[in-house]
Amino acid sequence: SANSLQSAFGKKFTMGVAVGPADLSGESAKLILQQFGSLTPENAMKMGPVHPRENEYNWKAADSIAAFARRHGLKLRGHTLCWHQQVPSWIFTDNTGAPANRSLVLKRLHDHIKTVVGRYRDIVYAWDVVNEAISDAPGEYLRNSPWLSICGEEYIALAFQWAHEADPDALLFYNDYNEIDSTKRSKIIRLVTTLQKKGVPVHGIGLQGHWAINEPTPEILDACLRDFTATGLPLQITELDVSVYPKEHQARSAQPSDSKTAFTPAKATAQQEQYLNCFRIFGKYRQMIQAITFWNVSDKHTWLDNFPVRNRKDYPLLFDVNLKPKQAYHILLQHA
Ligand code: XIL
Repeated sequence: SANSLQSAFGKKFTMGVAVGPADLSGESAKLILQQFGSLTPENAMKMGPVHPRENEYNWKAADSIAAFARRHGLKLRGHTLCWHQQVPSWIFTDNTGAPANRSLVLKRLHDHIKTVVGRYRDIVYAWDVVNEAISDAPGEYLRNSPWLSICGEEYIALAFQWAHEADPDALLFYNDYNEIDSTKRSKIIRLVTTLQKKGVPVHGIGLQGHWAINEPTPEILDACLRDFTATGLPLQITELDVSVYPKEHQARSAQPSDSKTAFTPAKATAQQEQYLNCFRIFGKYRQMIQAITFWNVSDKHTWLDNFPVRNRKDYPLLFDVNLKPKQAYHILLQHA
């Protein structure tokens, strides 16, 4: 019987995990090598961290993750080339401190993509080229970010074109969240099909998969994957986690009782059911789902501890705060 996520699910999906340099030593490195076949840099390849000033790249963290992947024969997903967050302010400012114009911003985006994609050509097999460009607002299609307001919607197609030129072998993804919401989903599908019709090199859709114990329901996840696979494009689940805070408590401020009620046995069971349902439905669409990446290694460190509410401990992963497999892990493997 299987003794790791990669051995249990690897025939269907590449199983991955988001990491920072600190995860790549000690017990956490051991767990990663035991369990996973792929890495995504949690922050290290984003524009802010890797390109803090116009002519200055900070490769240290990204290089250490790439070196670990090469050394251990792991796959590597690149994340992400163009996003409205963790973007350095110099990109949108000219040398006099005034707002940069369209041609300057696009030139900088081009340089950035060429340099970063070029550097990791040998090891990154898939890039999240554009991240979260769709608006969550009802009736609004694209997110009103500086990218859009300065460059117009063409920046999206150009980013894919430039990534393709820098590495013709890389699989290029459009990546977004709230994919389980049918309105958001239609906009994501509208974007990727528009790009496809224009002949833009987009090779897949990344579904972040930041979910909760009670959302999506199996019916909603099934409808979601049915709609996305109807585009004909392969999918990857790029940032999977299952928050123990139910949908209706997601944005609620931290409560004093949270530390006692966050991860009770009842929550553990609900989370286990949610993971089981998700993987059952992923299995149904296995021909179209290439990879599943968890967003962080274990409950010891999860980005959800500070999002959407600061300092509220969450327990969204398959390994606990001591890096030991949770009940959900064992049950998932039994049903793999
Ligand atoms: C998050 C990281 O996990 C945090 O460490 C960082 O402070 C903010 O970004 N969607 C994405 C990821 O595409 O890049 C985000 O990662 C989580 C949401």
